[in-house]
Amino acid sequence: MEIDNEGLASVAQPASDPIAATEADLNRPKRAFSGMQPTGEPHLGNYIGAVKRWVQMQDSGSINFFCIVDLHSVTIHQDPDELRKRTRSLAAVYLASGIDPDRSTLFIQSHVSAHAEACWLLNCVTPLGWLQKMTQFKDKSAKQESVSTGLLDYPVLQAADILLYDADQVPVGEDQKQHVELTRNIAERFNRLYGQDGPTFVIPEPVIPTVGARIMGLDDPTSKMSKSASSVRGHAVGLLDDPAEIERSFKRAVTDSSGEIRFSDNPERAGVNNLLTIYRAITGRTTEQVESDFASARGYGDLKLKVAEAVIAELTPVRERYQQFMQDPAELDRLLARGAEQARAVAMPKLRQMMHRMGMVVVGG
Ligand code: TYM
Repeated sequence: MEIDNEGLASVAQPASDPIAATEADLNRPKRAFSGMQPTGEPHLGNYIGAVKRWVQMQDSGSINFFCIVDLHSVTIHQDPDELRKRTRSLAAVYLASGIDPDRSTLFIQSHVSAHAEACWLLNCVTPLGWLQKMTQFKDKSAKQESVSTGLLDYPVLQAADILLYDADQVPVGEDQKQHVELTRNIAERFNRLYGQDGPTFVIPEPVIPTVGARIMGLDDPTSKMSKSASSVRGHAVGLLDDPAEIERSFKRAVTDSSGEIRFSDNPERAGVNNLLTIYRAITGRTTEQVESDFASARGYGDLKLKVAEAVIAELTPVRERYQQFMQDPAELDRLLARGAEQARAVAMPKLRQMMHRMGMVVVGG
């Protein structure tokens, strides 16, 4: 994809005037930004709630930025070698899932220093109380012996990610909605505090899928499928699991004793509902079609097998392509370096605009 500055709220400007929000902004193509942490094994929830939809967005005419957010990962201690391995591995997962580096900008967050710099500037307009209220901070910090400042600041870095690219849309699972709402609040506050020459930031919208925004654990359908619990036997389906593992995971899935194969919001039927939701999200079939697919099923054994088959059919080509990408680390690094360069071309002018508006002396091109 050609990344030029067409349609940007800010473009690289002479030092005397690094800011020029233009009328043309209204007509520019939509932009999308999203990311995933390279921690833990990516699972079916990440795929359905995020990556599968990112791939579909490539056909929607938007300009897309997909990032591997390694700086977010270190808000909780990571083994350095393991993090490096997982970062490359996640890049291969993005590519294997169908992110096309010729149509989307795919990059590693730490390769674009503007993210950390913009985070600092946004820190200075974000009230502490906003961060202390974040549900994910409360959940994650309760599990840590020692809570880093970075963990509290995590959503401000996420706001920097999104705002640097003038993203209109942020395709995420439901658990990220609060962070995107905070991003909107930070953007509005910055626009107001430093609005002397017009708004700096586009106010982004979270784009949450109607089906599969919150895939639940197979072992406990009352809790979200999550990377932190993915080592628990029977909890998650790994994106790279082989067919036998996938089938085993579904066979063990918790259901109920009613025997009815229908969508339901009854909490006691959450297990079956989750299986049907996975099937629906993967196959793209409607509620009615899904229920009719299972009308002649003989019990939950059949249901589990059919859901497993659909997931295996979807993930097998992803796993095979992943193995190919992992065989050529030099090519992977080349693609990531190219993505970082494209991302910098967009993020740096925005950072300079932020700095100028806050009162820093911005020099050079
Ligand atoms: P992360 O790495 O936890 O998850 C990546 C994406 O997967 C979605 N997701 C799920 N969707 C459905 N069901 C589930 N069980 C499930 N679990 C996870 C998440 O909602 C997410 O979309 N903070 C983000 C990363 C981030 C980011 C950003 C996202 C950093 N900067 C800027 C968007 C824009 C995170 O931890 O995602």
